Amino acid sequence: MTTVLEWTGKTAAFELGRRLVDGAEAEPRRDGAEREPVPRLVDGDPEREGRLGDGRPHLRDADGTVHVPDPHENLLVIGDNLPALTALLATHRRQVKVVYIDPPYNTGNAHTYKDHGHDHASWLSFMTPRLLLARELMREDGVLFLHLDDKESAWAQLLGHEIFGEDNSLGTLIHQRAKGGGNARSFVRGHDYVHVWARDASQVGPFLTEKKSPAKLEVIDGRRMLVETDVLRAGFGRYARGSERRLMYEDIVAVKGEGKLAEVDAKLASGEYILRPWGTEGKHAVVRVTPAEKASSKLYSIIKALGGQNDLEPLGLAGVFSYPKPVELVKALVASQTFFDPDAIVLDFFAGSGTTAQAVMAANERDQGSRSFVLVQTPEPLRSKTARAVVVGGGAELTGGAGANGQAAEGADGTGGATAAGDAEFPTISELTAERIRRAADAHSPGLIFTQLEVVDGEQRPAAT
Ligand SMILES: C[S@@+](CC[C@H](N)C(=O)[O-])C[C@H]1O[C@@H](n2cnc3c(N)ncnc32)[C@H](O)[C@@H]1O
Repeated sequence: MTTVLEWTGKTAAFELGRRLVDGAEAEPRRDGAEREPVPRLVDGDPEREGRLGDGRPHLRDADGTVHVPDPHENLLVIGDNLPALTALLATHRRQVKVVYIDPPYNTGNAHTYKDHGHDHASWLSFMTPRLLLARELMREDGVLFLHLDDKESAWAQLLGHEIFGEDNSLGTLIHQRAKGGGNARSFVRGHDYVHVWARDASQVGPFLTEKKSPAKLEVIDGRRMLVETDVLRAGFGRYARGSERRLMYEDIVAVKGEGKLAEVDAKLASGEYILRPWGTEGKHAVVRVTPAEKASSKLYSIIKALGGQNDLEPLGLAGVFSYPKPVELVKALVASQTFFDPDAIVLDFFAGSGTTAQAVMAANERDQGSRSFVLVQTPEPLRSKTARAVVVGGGAELTGGAGANGQAAEGADGTGGATAAGDAEFPTISELTAERIRRAADAHSPGLIFTQLEVVDGEQRPAAT
């Protein structure tokens, strides 16, 4: 492939990424040589800040004990995603089916990406080692969704081609996130891009979506089936609230005649329909069951999903985080590649408000799956002043200017912000992430267990107990 993307710092960024991918390997090198220690990154700039530490990044729990997670454990890792991804190599190398990331363009913490106006070079240097690590964590049939707006999209696309190989680019989806309105300079922007790459495109199956969303998935006799319980109606038109509109099997002849009964019986015999006890009169509903694999269609490249704030509201977290992505969108992306893979591992290392965890829970709720999530988020403060400006100003556009958020965000930044209430409750974004996971679990997956860990960037490794 011809390399078309050059920037200052590119070589160092790739070298750092490759060294982390290679150096974190638990086993000794095949050639018997000693491994170099993993460089310790302090400030997201490999050239200035990459330093060698004595140990390898690792994860520890709240007691400070080293924690070696099971790959299928739900995890929230708190800390910079560079050492976090490096630490995860020990347990998750080639294990992750879906990576979804929505990286920032500006943050204000030493361990997070700092925007320097439109300095694409810094952004590319920040993303490069992280994408190399993500690729290493992906299964052979793994896919990565990179969600971006206009600002970095073109650059990111070329970077992705270089990291994954252009042949492994699966295309770009459009996320329609708004409709109409807005105080736009040139035109009203209502969409973002989701670039998609595979580790190996030849291993990746079609991206699927449900054909009929009102139906439910159930496991019947060990097979995953789409179940429709109201295929036979007693009549047309409106029904009084609470009244039964289904035509029970026992009433078919009286309402529709012998011919209809023969038709239904034939479908019962072929297995297309089954009977299910319904109501209190000992009657049966006629239920259509369709094998799940026949009930899907290919994902359309334009996905409309408005307002991630609407997802936070029912959780009592409205306005606490600026520009969360919609659960519906991330759920559609996750489900598209895990339609027949309900045990898959999903990774989001720019977790923000934790949308991806909720999307995984929602996908599991739909098909009784047991997908797990791995989220990474820095303990960055929620920046209340900017967010308050957004809230007071009506919420549509963040024109920043002051402080760390010196860039118009138009839905792209999403790097946090708090109302006064949010501030009090969640001093850091990672605390909000954890609380959102807890609240989403109450709604979708009561009893869900997730492990909250902290990443230690090498140096002193306490003894594992
Ligand atoms: C655009 S937001 C993601 C929003 C998320 N998709 C949601 O729906 O809530 C990006 C997030 O990445 C976090 N972040 C930035 N640099 C990071 C780093 N080096 N390690 C971990 N998280 C980081 C920011 O704090 C922010 O919460």
